[in-house]
Amino acid sequence: MSSHDAPTEYSLYPPPADAVAHAHVSGQAAYDALCAEAEADYAGYWARLARELISWKTPFTQVLDESNAPFFKWFADGTLNASYNCLDRNIERGLGDKTAIIFEADGGEVRRVSYKELLAIVNKMANGLKSLGVQKGDRVIIYLSMGIEGVAAMQACARIGATHSVVFGGFSAQSLRDRIEDTGAVAVITADQQQRGGKALPLKTIVDEAIALGGCGSVKHVLVHKRTGADIPFDASRDLWLADLVAGQSEVCEPEWVEAEHPLFLLYTSGSTGKPKGVQHSTGGYLLHAALTTKWTFDLKDDDVFWCTADIGWVTGHTYITYGPLALGGTEIVFEGVPTFPDAGRFWKMIQDHKVSIFYTAPTAIRSLIKAAEATESVHPKNYDLSSLRILGSVGEPINPAAWEWYHKHVGGGRCPIVDTFWQTETGGHMITPLPGVTTLVPGSCTLPFPGIQAAVVDETGKDVPWGQGGILVVKKPWPSMIRTIWGDPERFKKSYYPADFHGKYYLAGDGAIRDPKTGYFTITGRIDDVLNVSGHRMGTMEIESALVSHTELVAEAAVVGRPDDTTGEAICAFVVLKRPRPTGDEAKKLAAELRNWVAKEIGPIAKPKDIRFGENLPKTRSGKIMRRLLRSIARGEAITQDTSTLENPAILDQLSQTN
Ligand code: PRX
Repeated sequence: MSSHDAPTEYSLYPPPADAVAHAHVSGQAAYDALCAEAEADYAGYWARLARELISWKTPFTQVLDESNAPFFKWFADGTLNASYNCLDRNIERGLGDKTAIIFEADGGEVRRVSYKELLAIVNKMANGLKSLGVQKGDRVIIYLSMGIEGVAAMQACARIGATHSVVFGGFSAQSLRDRIEDTGAVAVITADQQQRGGKALPLKTIVDEAIALGGCGSVKHVLVHKRTGADIPFDASRDLWLADLVAGQSEVCEPEWVEAEHPLFLLYTSGSTGKPKGVQHSTGGYLLHAALTTKWTFDLKDDDVFWCTADIGWVTGHTYITYGPLALGGTEIVFEGVPTFPDAGRFWKMIQDHKVSIFYTAPTAIRSLIKAAEATESVHPKNYDLSSLRILGSVGEPINPAAWEWYHKHVGGGRCPIVDTFWQTETGGHMITPLPGVTTLVPGSCTLPFPGIQAAVVDETGKDVPWGQGGILVVKKPWPSMIRTIWGDPERFKKSYYPADFHGKYYLAGDGAIRDPKTGYFTITGRIDDVLNVSGHRMGTMEIESALVSHTELVAEAAVVGRPDDTTGEAICAFVVLKRPRPTGDEAKKLAAELRNWVAKEIGPIAKPKDIRFGENLPKTRSGKIMRRLLRSIARGEAITQDTSTLENPAILDQLSQTN
């Protein structure tokens, strides 16, 4: 183990007295009482919260239904609407004129919308979708960059009961096509272009390419938001400007009341096989946890300005931009750009300008901003007034203690608790996390489970391991915001998360963990499957391998592993056997570049291997299985300690050690 080692010596950061006194969950006794309540009456605990945080059209009488485990149901006979809960309900509470979203564009322009204005935008879009025949149960793909329209498009789908599936704007035409086909979407909502880091990048032309690749016959409409005004191809039989669609639509749209289990969204994420899986989330249970975790983990209050820097293309953007903060009537920032444009002081300047009080970002961003601040004095956070901050958050990957300390000291001024939130696309919201008014923090540890979440560390047989011993992270009881199934593949859902050969009863997170021997605090030790985490982005090794071997002219075989990287957490390292003699020198460099671009085209630039190495073969066991552990050691530049006696050709190890 490396930076993921459980801390043995560390500084402790007790919660600030002010937070203990005033937080929604105030003090250790309050946390203990919530855990005890959940322990004593699990269903009653979640039912109480679901009644307190969510407005139901038809109140539920059933809470947890385990009759068809592991396809659990929550609040199944209740009906609600997510968009009603995020918008109308706040207006009815008198928050109509409160700012819902402060949007800052890549170039710095700012646009604010109130709850009333956001509702009008959402309703016009919802009515527009309805006028095209989009209805409850239909799937809609959203391929947009960050903006009010993206959030509104998601809310508009929720309003009419259509299931949205947002595809991150950095994914390629091929990836987009796969998601369109798998969801059978009837419409795609996109923009002419996206604006990032001072550059205009294509969106609509990628949608066109995706559809041209075939298999997208379900798509009847492509709705285009005009972002940059670029000249783009338009197919009048299918394409429609979003502005034209919503013009003249009513600002009133009766919500479609859906059952609690109705799929609010599908979000694709990587697993251990080549094909990304469409994680299906519910409406009721998901919205409950989105609201509840925003309230307790971030302690969101009426006068806060909340900023989650994630993209709506990832689950963090779903839960902590589109749903959680709005469900609580909060004010939030939506940011279109990147942290390093026009310079690496952008985040700090925006915190200063908008008086952000709660800031939630990824360790990768922090690490790259540390580097930038160390190189260029003027972008160091000390040059900005960050006194509005009161809570900081981290998500997506382990945060190394050095980055944690810097974040705490230089961004949080030593006074803001950092909530290191462990969760996954599948969990819908935080699972293991500090609470700002409760938890004594330890850099590098996500500390303790959110009240009600039964996280544990077990061995291969499902038995709890003692604190201090590493094991497999599981969740022992179903929780409201958990994944319901993998879209179109219930068997894969069971196999991935409730495998029969592994106890069968617990949710298997796919991560390893260890608990501190004294405090019981959790530290995540990284994935135990073939999933990499690069800059907080989840990538399957098999997915990248399939992309490489789909270059059939060049590639005979490929194996992908991860290795630790100072900035991106993990880096992708690909070992490739070509259908031609092993290249060296400039030829190898040229081919490595070609393959990197190929992967970018197949999946998206985020999947580009950092390192590509060529060999005449891959190290294999006698039965032909690739020895990945050996490849991992080579990628890390470690001495080979494994037994290599079964290798046919040990000379390939030398070949594979050479970088290009
Ligand atoms: O390995 C864990 C890591 O990210 C994985 C989930 O990735 P994804 O579904 O893309 O969701 C990311 C945003 C929630 C996990 O299985 N991970 C996430 N948060 C943390 C983390 N690892 C350590 N510490 C965290 N706080």
